[in-house]
Amino acid sequence: MKKTRLIFLAIIIMALLPQVLSSTPNESRRIARGRYLVEDVSMCGDCHTPLTANGQPNRQRWLDGAQLGFKPLHPMPWFAKSPRIAGLPGLTKREAVKLLETGLLPNGQRLLPPMPQFRFSHRDAEAVVAYLESLKKP
Ligand code: HEC
Repeated sequence: MKKTRLIFLAIIIMALLPQVLSSTPNESRRIARGRYLVEDVSMCGDCHTPLTANGQPNRQRWLDGAQLGFKPLHPMPWFAKSPRIAGLPGLTKREAVKLLETGLLPNGQRLLPPMPQFRFSHRDAEAVVAYLESLKKP
């Protein structure tokens, strides 16, 4: 009986091992890709990070949401405050991926300018979301 259990356990461990070993590097690669897309390509921090007194992005409050420091020259739909996106507090993973692929909020409404209507590929949207989720406050 004991031997059978041991064999059973060994089979389970052997079956799960490759997944455990490969999921961690995959996930960290995805997060690194997301960080690159957020910080170096789409510049999400330009709007979603508050500025310090001397006009620099406040790294202590990275992607914390901010009052925008600029306005349109002509009347147009406009949302003057960006929400916090570090940790993605207001959205499920699936909603956030869809928003980055379509520019639509979960209720089907379009995001207002100046939020860009991004059309990320599914893969890149997932990478951005993985990075933003990794910024959850402990
Ligand atoms: C030019 C300014 C600007 C940039 C750049 C920008 N955003 Fe936004 N974002 C906004 C504004 C303003 C809103 C609020 C729009 C609304 O609610 O209609 C918003 C809303 C959002 C929301 C909705 C959050 C919620 O809980 O409703 C998400 C998610 C988001 N932005 C993610 C991003 C990501 C990810 C990037 C970069 C890939 C980015 N934004 C770049 C200005 C910006």
